[in-house]
Amino acid sequence: MNTKPFSTVLGLVALLTFAAPAFSAGGGALQHADVNIRDIAAIQRGAKLFVNYCFSCHSASFMRYNRLAEDLNLDEDLVMENLVFADVKIGETMEIAMRPDDAGNWLGKVPPDLSLASRSRGADWLYTYLLTFYQDESGGWNNQLLENASMPNVFWQLQGIQKPVYATHDGHEVIDHLTLAEPGLQSPEEFESSVRDLVTFMEYLGEPAKVKRKNIGVWVLLFLALFALVSYALKAEYWRDVH
Ligand code: HEC
Repeated sequence: MNTKPFSTVLGLVALLTFAAPAFSAGGGALQHADVNIRDIAAIQRGAKLFVNYCFSCHSASFMRYNRLAEDLNLDEDLVMENLVFADVKIGETMEIAMRPDDAGNWLGKVPPDLSLASRSRGADWLYTYLLTFYQDESGGWNNQLLENASMPNVFWQLQGIQKPVYATHDGHEVIDHLTLAEPGLQSPEEFESSVRDLVTFMEYLGEPAKVKRKNIGVWVLLFLALFALVSYALKAEYWRDVH
């Protein structure tokens, strides 16, 4: 038998499976975000962090406030009070007021829309990115995953200030790890948990139907299991007459 087509297909599948995360990865090892998309409370806390810390620069223009209210089991008035600071209506999308041209001038780069960031980068990338901001020798912010990122560490008050510790590899100075030079308002564990909440929200943002899909999935599996039992009983009943 000629197995060539089969092995070619197998090779392609393997390539696509393993290459996909590689495309989205940056430099450095990724930390595991370990998000649980069914944890609605975590998504709610993440949404609050998002509008307080990210939404001044980044839009999430695929998301409407009323969809947020519905998916997160929140009262629409509560959403208007806690998550909406601009003069907008509940049915509008999460756009920001800053104009792209201004943003580009102020920051050097236009902050991208974050609706699909979790899809393009993956949860682990986002988690690692948000945890690895540090202050470099110039006193400015830098990021271990996205070198020379134009984004400041918006969480510095919560996280504190991290500084790099260098090591020499093959004659090059590289960052070995980051240390907390100045503690922030949250302990490292508390801060990791905040960032996990935020990334959980961003996962939800990337695919709002995922929460429902996962919940429905459980019921579908239960139904199938029950259905299998019933059909087995039915089969046994029919075959009793045949034997
Ligand atoms: C002061 C404005 C500002 C704030 C606030 C801000 N960002 Fe950014 N962000 C930027 C800019 C500018 C970039 C582009 C960085 C670059 O490519 O150099 C960026 C890039 C990013 C990226 C990388 C996108 C990519 O795939 O390359 C992510 C993810 C991100 N921001 C998430 C966040 C999150 C989450 C928050 C809130 C905790 C936040 N940002 C708050 C300005 C901001």
